[in-house]
Amino acid sequence: MFISFEGLDGCGKTTQVELLEAFLEMRDVEVVGTREPGGTELGETLRAIVLHGQKVSPWAEVAIFAAARAELVDQVIEPALKRGATVISDRFVDSSLVYQGVARGLGIENVLQVNVLATKGLMPDRTFLLLVDEKLSEARVGEERDRMESESEAFRRLVGDGYRRLAEMFPERIVALDGTQSREQIARDVRKALVEGAI
Ligand code: TYD
Repeated sequence: MFISFEGLDGCGKTTQVELLEAFLEMRDVEVVGTREPGGTELGETLRAIVLHGQKVSPWAEVAIFAAARAELVDQVIEPALKRGATVISDRFVDSSLVYQGVARGLGIENVLQVNVLATKGLMPDRTFLLLVDEKLSEARVGEERDRMESESEAFRRLVGDGYRRLAEMFPERIVALDGTQSREQIARDVRKALVEGAI
């Protein structure tokens, strides 16, 4: 099973990834946690370039995120799924569709095409989208900001709208949850959705 978590910066997805990992491990499920961009040696190098380096043009940004993702699929996700492990990824293709496709204005379909090739068509079985508004995201992101976190409020609003659009486009895969609830309540909602989806 392949699960991803998505949402605006500061939405609490990293905490939920950790809670779900701990929950499944207690039940003796082999869990592999990954983060994007990153999760491999090449991915971490690309992460430093795209988040902490100089300005990157929009299509170069798509290509860098896609390269990190291609490496992650090839080196980590595919092998883990093949041996029957559950993979939980902190962000996946949807982040590119929304940040680059919508907020940078490159188009969801265009960015999807590049990513379908890079990931050999691999998509999560279930994606949890934690919804928080732009103001809360802004407030939760601390002083030290990466290149994407330093973007304007208008950019955040586009990202938020983009995620809502994706949830409508892929209702079977994406489960949208209220990210302003307590972390325990969100964790319960996540587990409930997984059980009800029988995956
Ligand atoms: P994230 O790991 O959530 O940041 P942090 O480590 O600070 O919690 O994501 C890094 C940033 O990169 C985030 O602002 C979203 C952005 N991003 C994209 O723009 N496109 C992508 O494809 C991915 C994976 C991330």
